[in-house]
Amino acid sequence: MSPKNVVLLRTHHKGKVKEYLATLSEAPFHTEFGVIDLSVLLENENLETVTSHMGQKFSVVTPRSPDFFRHSKRTGTPMIPKDIGLIMAHTGICSSDTVLEAGTGSGSLTIYLGFVAKRVLSYEIREEFVRVAQNNVAKAGLSNVEIRCGDLVETLPLISEEFDVIILDMGGSEKAVCGCFEKLKNGGFLVTYSPFLEQATKIREEIEKLDFFDCRTFECFEREISFSSRGTRPSTIPVGHTGYLTFARK
Ligand SMILES: C[S@@+](CC[C@H](N)C(=O)[O-])C[C@H]1O[C@@H](n2cnc3c(N)ncnc32)[C@H](O)[C@@H]1O
Repeated sequence: MSPKNVVLLRTHHKGKVKEYLATLSEAPFHTEFGVIDLSVLLENENLETVTSHMGQKFSVVTPRSPDFFRHSKRTGTPMIPKDIGLIMAHTGICSSDTVLEAGTGSGSLTIYLGFVAKRVLSYEIREEFVRVAQNNVAKAGLSNVEIRCGDLVETLPLISEEFDVIILDMGGSEKAVCGCFEKLKNGGFLVTYSPFLEQATKIREEIEKLDFFDCRTFECFEREISFSSRGTRPSTIPVGHTGYLTFARK
């Protein structure tokens, strides 16, 4: 499952880190610091550095989920790491889990899930988004992720599998709550992500009609600390509101 077809190239320039997510091939790889011959990495995958024709040295590392998050093509608003972290922590997603997710978007959450879970089945209603997400997931080298084009609300009754965790990040999630309950294993979690409290409230109303054991809604705050010669303090450019996460356990 490791992404052997892609490497993360890192170099320093004027005190800043410059990064490139590069697909391994015989073709020359162009950077602002010159052209790199990546075929050397096809011959020796243990090489730790490569050098461009202009003499710039790059360290070569195997990319991880946050690298794919930063460098993947986007089609809309991705779920961001602080919220993904909360999902991982509250559901305990692990390597024996089968996870259902919708909407895929550009697959940011999907890639994090794919690196942890046994299988991820993801639904996205827009065909053009499916193609982008499939490319992003393929680049991450994940063969345990399946992305299907379709409306999850309509498709739920046709899905024959049961899931350990179901995650909804889409408009109209409340319409899928009842169908998701049917597809969840006992002890499994339904997670919904809602940008607005009104949506979270509608979702909770649906959850209350069903036989879930427990339901909790959270908003997650993350504050980066900035270090400079002037002093140390919380960053003045914080991430503002993202969404409300509701967790219901069957
Ligand atoms: C906010 S984005 C999801 C972002 C994604 N979680 C990520 O991390 O990149 C919401 C997506 O849900 C899709 N969507 C909306 N309604 C849907 C439905 N009923 N079934 C499947 N996908 C749906 C939209 O097309 C959109 O791409």
